Amino acid sequence: MVATPKIVIDRLSIQYDDGTESLRDVSIEILANEVTVLFGPAGGGKSTLLRALNRLTDLVPRTHITGRILLDGEDVLADGVDVVRLRRRVGMVFAQPIPLPMSVRQNVIYGLELAGEKRKSRLDEAMEQGLRAAALWDEVKDRLHDPASALSGGQQQRLCLARVLALEPEVILLDEPTSGLDPISTGKVEASLQDLKQAYTVVIVPHSIQQAARIADRAAFFLQGELIEYASGKTIFTAPKDKRTEDYVTGRFG
Ligand SMILES: Nc1ncnc2c1ncn2[C@@H]1O[C@H](COP(=O)(O)OP(=O)(O)OP(=O)(O)O)[C@@H](O)[C@H]1O
Ligand SMILES: [Mg+2]
Repeated sequence: MVATPKIVIDRLSIQYDDGTESLRDVSIEILANEVTVLFGPAGGGKSTLLRALNRLTDLVPRTHITGRILLDGEDVLADGVDVVRLRRRVGMVFAQPIPLPMSVRQNVIYGLELAGEKRKSRLDEAMEQGLRAAALWDEVKDRLHDPASALSGGQQQRLCLARVLALEPEVILLDEPTSGLDPISTGKVEASLQDLKQAYTVVIVPHSIQQAARIADRAAFFLQGELIEYASGKTIFTAPKDKRTEDYVTGRFG
């Protein structure tokens, strides 16, 4: 049986106002319960694609988008889509963790409170679940009322992940989430991704080729807005079909 893709990207092109064509005719199918990696050199369009998936691209005026992005068969780019609901279903974690100036606990439950949840038992449950899923619970369970700013950089990054997870999204987008982290914290975030894919669809721009190779179930290689190759992580990193992918993954690029 062929799995139904969670996300279908169909002939997507994105052009910014200044004429920069950051994605050109990209088509990819993304499966649930896998880690899908978007990688390639700077300026290739990876962040643009990630941001399009939950319509953060709306925030850049006069961006011209053509093509379709289907989430469970529905076009997220269509007029009339409830963008708030979409961003709850498709959560984003950024490179720089930016905790809110409040306690660890408050940071995790903030989104749920904004969404109107008032029951303390429900908030506590979601907080613990989010922190556990982000592999942070054991480190902060006795510090829930400390300011989030007192956590280490690696803990703050996992706190931002927990904040997204507490909203119970279906898809998690991560843009270089470990770029500022030491190897141990990086290892913890990578390990938590392996757990997360049991329940979610994970799409990530890794911070290095080595990380891409470690975590990818499937990987897409981008060069200057073009999708060069999309295949299983094993194929891309050990037997790529395109010469340009091979040059890049073997470090012969440039
Ligand atoms: N807000 C914007 N306005 C204009 N051009 C933009 C904007 N954001 C990105 N671009 C351009 O779109 C192209 C793709 O950028 P994008 O950030 O998606 O690349 P990337 O693959 O994530 O790169 P990096 O590895 O450096 O993060 C680049 O040429 C970039 O300059
Ligand atoms: Mg980027």
